[in-house]
Amino acid sequence: MASGKSVTRIDIRRTSPSYCSTPTIVIFVALCLVGIWMFSSTIVVPEEISLQDAKSETKDQVPGVDSQPSGDNLGDNNGNTIVDEPNRETSMDEEKLEKTGEKLGEKTHEEPLKENEEVLTELENKTPDFGDLKQTNEGGETNKERRDTDTIGENSKKKKVEEIEDMKGLKPKDILPDGAQLELLNMTSTQKGSWSTQDAESEKEKELQASSSPESQIIYSWKLCNVTAGTDYIPCLDNEKAIKKLRSTKHYEHRERHCPEESPTCLVPLPEGYKRPIKWPKSRDKIWYSNVPHTKLVDYKGHQNWLKISGEYLTFPGGGTQFKHGALHYIDVIQESQTDIAWGKRSRLALDVGCGVASFGGYLFERDVLTMSFAPKDEHEAQVQFALERGIPAISAVMGTKRLPFPSKVFDVIHCARCRVPWHIEGGMLLLELNRLLRPGGYFVWSATPVYQKLPEDVEIWNAMFALTKSMCWKMVNKTKDKVNRVGLAIFRKPTDNKCYEKRVIQNPPLCQDSDDPDAAWNIPLQACIHKLPTDPAIRGTQWPEQWPQRLEKTPYWMSSSQIGVYGKPAPEDFIADYEHWKRVVRNSYINGMGIDWSTIRNVMDMKTVYGGFAAALREMKVWVMNIVPINSPDTLPIIYERGLFGLYHDWCESFSTYPRTYDLLHADHLFSNLKRRCKLLPVIVEVDRILRPEGKLIIRDNVETINEVESVVKSLQWKVRMTYSKDKEGLLFVQKTMWRPTV
Ligand SMILES: *[C@@H]1O[C@H](CO)[C@@H](O)[C@H](O)[C@H]1NC(C)=O
Ligand SMILES: *[C@@H]1O[C@H](CO)[C@@H](O)[C@H](O)[C@H]1NC(C)=O
Ligand SMILES: *[C@@H]1O[C@H](CO)[C@@H](O)[C@H](O)[C@H]1NC(C)=O
Repeated sequence: MASGKSVTRIDIRRTSPSYCSTPTIVIFVALCLVGIWMFSSTIVVPEEISLQDAKSETKDQVPGVDSQPSGDNLGDNNGNTIVDEPNRETSMDEEKLEKTGEKLGEKTHEEPLKENEEVLTELENKTPDFGDLKQTNEGGETNKERRDTDTIGENSKKKKVEEIEDMKGLKPKDILPDGAQLELLNMTSTQKGSWSTQDAESEKEKELQASSSPESQIIYSWKLCNVTAGTDYIPCLDNEKAIKKLRSTKHYEHRERHCPEESPTCLVPLPEGYKRPIKWPKSRDKIWYSNVPHTKLVDYKGHQNWLKISGEYLTFPGGGTQFKHGALHYIDVIQESQTDIAWGKRSRLALDVGCGVASFGGYLFERDVLTMSFAPKDEHEAQVQFALERGIPAISAVMGTKRLPFPSKVFDVIHCARCRVPWHIEGGMLLLELNRLLRPGGYFVWSATPVYQKLPEDVEIWNAMFALTKSMCWKMVNKTKDKVNRVGLAIFRKPTDNKCYEKRVIQNPPLCQDSDDPDAAWNIPLQACIHKLPTDPAIRGTQWPEQWPQRLEKTPYWMSSSQIGVYGKPAPEDFIADYEHWKRVVRNSYINGMGIDWSTIRNVMDMKTVYGGFAAALREMKVWVMNIVPINSPDTLPIIYERGLFGLYHDWCESFSTYPRTYDLLHADHLFSNLKRRCKLLPVIVEVDRILRPEGKLIIRDNVETINEVESVVKSLQWKVRMTYSKDKEGLLFVQKTMWRPTV
């Protein structure tokens, strides 16, 4: 009977490894044969892994997290509180050893979520079929599954069986041939040397795993971070030690990333009185003040009418911008001023520079436009945190000395309202970075006082900007006013070819060297130069993409069949296979099969994407997906932008530039196993814990070894395991963070 296996699953608790011993399992199996009601017995189930229905979210608010770090001391420089002392290494090994006692193998595990008991039975009944089904083609599979479904019966079960089909599709042979990804990891070969120790380590671990010794137990001693940034800690942006050492902060170097040498393993405390965030779309207009308690920001912005404290809420009157009469009016004026912009059709992707509380992006959703907003981290203006709490995409970033983490020529429109960036100085270096990011033929919308006010300073800046944009071959297509909001705006267009560059009498700003790859964006210093535009029509950047939404599904014109895709097929086929795969997985599992209440989900991140298939498959949901292309993965980010989705490059061995508690759902497809070769897994899971909201969810697809490792850590963090599944050494893990924090 199916339930037996479940029991072996539930009772595995780190602190009591003897639970894994065979006699215990036998006893539990026996007990369970008595009846399913036994599942609810507290004898069997650890309390923290609750039995509640998958869809019912816990009602409790924050169980008083008291011990916030004292804001005054600077902590231990980096703010790194190393959690588990010198023998952490050993602990990890011990954990592995312990894990070997828990054979995932071919089993299907599920938490005994009530609604899933049935699934469980079916999944297990189905398991023997997987082998056969795998060999048939996709259509065949579906048909066969359908027939099986009929023999089972009712409609409700049909869904569950589709889920099984999907599970089986965890790593379909036709999509992820073994080794295909490895081959493409070549791009990281330069880094490999420095991580050789990690590789060696993982080899050692494998050996240890082979020899099982389940006696050992591991106890994590989690601690709260003791840092000045307190509940807002972003390790790479709050590295006080590194910031103190900076020779200059003239270019906002102190707002740039400075990652601690060793990634922290402490946990970020919750703000006092933290509540489950308000759901989108209400959150656009009001959020809980207790979740983002920045009194200074309110004082500072209050007179600008951006935001107000109203009782327990923070509200955003007039849409939370300087546009007193609404961001939507302003958005429409932009389109009237340059009809070619055509929000939601020609223009799908916007970049908002110095985004305030990201209302511009928040309202552009209504025009079917996806906006990447960014602003520097600043203790007085936690703008990005407000944006994310509101359910609007944003990252912490600064126009400083380095390129922004995006490929070239990807944004349809770049917007800057009162962004106070000194565009015109230093050869126009910062504006030239926007030029790199702007699609040829794309628009820059600038609404700042120099556009419409006549103070001497404004006039001076306007003249400088006018000269600079002209020298960059940007054409000013309109200069007009939003009379209702009383702001002026100037709209510029980037050229689509090199003619104007070549005709310039003075080659200033100069063209960049041919060896300068415009798509290189990770830790690349800014230079005041212009990248020549591509001329070969088979190359990206020579044509505007299809209109939205057609552009989502269309294979980019510059992907040719002579290229090999990430999964080993010719690139265009690869692209389609990826999309089909994720559509299936998302429909069958994530939306229908796993008991996820999507109304609680707004901010989503795909931590390791290939072509953005996961995000594309979620299009109908009221969510947005931040797509991450890890720096050692094939650079597919331009493809993601081409289809009207967005994202950035990131190195998951470092912290992400977002505030704590900002994402509702993280998705990691074969990320952690890949990372293990380059850095320790534990700090990465701690980072996941940092950016995930309490009660937020994590879905991992990876090899069983890695899944076991992650599962063991997150259980010690008191997360709920909602579902695990494995087959042929590949597995899926679905877990949910809780409000739990350590008391020290
Ligand atoms: C936090 O760090 C400071 C300075 O390193 C130290 O004096 C203080 O005791 C620490 N607080 C806790 C709760 O560990
Ligand atoms: C990967 O690197 C190896 C040696 O560095 C090279 O021989 C091989 O052709 C590369 N493969 C790809 C797909 O670039
Ligand atoms: C400039 O914008 C205004 C509205 O803001 C519009 O009426 C006018 O037609 C635009 N001019 C051009 C040349 O597009």
